[in-house]
Amino acid sequence: MLPALPSHTTPELDELILRVPTASAALGRGLHPLILEEIARLMVKVNSYYTNAMEGNPSKLKDIDAALNKEFFKDKIARNYQLEHVAHIEVQEAMLQRLWQEPKLNVCSEEFLCWLHKQFFIRLPEEMRFAKTESGKLVPVEPGRLRDRGITVGRHEGPVKQEEIRHHLSQFETLLNPERLTGANKLLGWASSHHRSVWIHPFPEGNGRVARLLTTAYGIRIGVNDHMLWTVARAFARNRADYDAHLAAADLPRRNDLDGRGPLSEENLIEFCAYFLRCCEDQIRFMESRLQLTELKRRYQRFISGLTDEKQLSKAGAKVMEQLLFQGEIARGQVPEICGVKQRRATQIVKELLNAKIARSRTAYGALRLNIDSDMASVLFPKLA
Ligand SMILES: Nc1ncnc2c1ncn2[C@@H]1O[C@H](COP(=O)(O)OP(=O)(O)O)[C@@H](O)[C@H]1O
Ligand SMILES: [Mg+2]
Repeated sequence: MLPALPSHTTPELDELILRVPTASAALGRGLHPLILEEIARLMVKVNSYYTNAMEGNPSKLKDIDAALNKEFFKDKIARNYQLEHVAHIEVQEAMLQRLWQEPKLNVCSEEFLCWLHKQFFIRLPEEMRFAKTESGKLVPVEPGRLRDRGITVGRHEGPVKQEEIRHHLSQFETLLNPERLTGANKLLGWASSHHRSVWIHPFPEGNGRVARLLTTAYGIRIGVNDHMLWTVARAFARNRADYDAHLAAADLPRRNDLDGRGPLSEENLIEFCAYFLRCCEDQIRFMESRLQLTELKRRYQRFISGLTDEKQLSKAGAKVMEQLLFQGEIARGQVPEICGVKQRRATQIVKELLNAKIARSRTAYGALRLNIDSDMASVLFPKLA
């Protein structure tokens, strides 16, 4: 899998390395931190939506919301697709916990990659724990276990023997460990690790999903998109042909003496890194436009008045919702004052907002927070999913 990192950059790459972290860090300015947390919660669903869509999962964002509310399709196949999202969302949450609790954890370690794979597959319905071989045969996938047979993806043949896979994984673990890299190399390692992990293709199935989870984890480790306000999977999924073509180009062997020193083409790795960071920038710019404050407030207002116009929300409920976007959180005790009503009526209003799933509360009597479900997301963040 060498070279693991480009030994030099291009002017375009230099620019991207500067712009991506700054543009990402500037996202969400002016919004309440608790609202940003709710947007990050939405992005976990959006990430699952795109990464699984790339592998043929047709669920919509509203089907994912339904699944999280334990409402499933009767049709078994559609239901399994919903369960795939629940699994992915749970893994991403468990992953965030681990990153937070284990500051020394190397996200490029074999242990971490196998853990991601295991956590995902263990949660999938039995019927989804299969890989299709080239001849069309279905072979069972053991959660967290490296493959023990050859694999072809596009024109790329992954390393065959388990000891070869382990050898590449150990280089991957050492050379791309974000803690070891400094400055620009952190961003190059982020981009390169995405390709190199799928080049190794360590599992019989699920390599794409694991690679994209790794990319999320890597970003958090290097402090880019640690607020999780965007996802690069959206760019990959929206132009799948481009994603596959860039992965395939980076699989190619070294062309000549000027093309780096490892067996794989360094020029193509540089181009892959530029592609990866262009995708990041594209997604950051997209979210920048969606988080533009005046427009966001206008769309939020439109969402609330849409509900009141259709008699799905009372005028008093709307008052609470209007304040929620600015305050991030509203204690239940504040509701009588905000709406100018007595306690009994305030309790009904709280219930109304919770039932409509436009607000949520983490405990039975806890403060109200915004709940960005698929309906609200489609108005607040058009074309997000
Ligand atoms: N030419 C290629 N070289 C390396 N990886 C590739 C190539 N083409 C596609 N991929 C990666 O392989 C993934 C598919 O592998 P697979 O094990 O089926 O993962 P999943 O089950 O998550 O789809 C794609 O999502 C992509 O990330
Ligand atoms: Mg697959």
